[in-house]
Amino acid sequence: MTELQLNGESIAVEAIETTPLAYVLRNECGIKSVKLGCEAEQCGACTVLADDRPVPSCTLALSDASERRLTTLEGLARGDVLSAVQNALLTSNASQCGYCLSGIAVAAYALFQTNAHPTHNNIVNALDGHLCRCGAHPRVIRALEQLAK
Ligand code: FES
Ligand code: FES
Repeated sequence: MTELQLNGESIAVEAIETTPLAYVLRNECGIKSVKLGCEAEQCGACTVLADDRPVPSCTLALSDASERRLTTLEGLARGDVLSAVQNALLTSNASQCGYCLSGIAVAAYALFQTNAHPTHNNIVNALDGHLCRCGAHPRVIRALEQLAK
């Protein structure tokens, strides 16, 4: 058994310690916001926060993850109240299929936690590692620029 600190709770999981965190989250913890794409740190779909910093969970071993405080998209809201970043993306309809959006929201949340008024370049840099096959990036950037104002 390994203990994870996930979205403010302790949860025991059974996977072996080398299992990538993304699989543990999806298969044992019921966290379906975490998506698998490249599985090689190249797309951002699996991004979670580890000690408040965005990291790809597709290559983070369970043993390393267990030493950090983990937050997924599910942990950004407070009860029924979405975080400002989630709200901005939702109200701006800033996606198409949505596959990339959990990772983008988590990374953007981390950015706004450290800088409430990021510039266009700050936002672009923070989301640089996130691919969107639907081409929704311009809408995402616009939504976050609105929030930054
Ligand atoms: S699935 Fe992890 S970065 Fe692509
Ligand atoms: S909205 Fe479809 S991959 Fe980004």
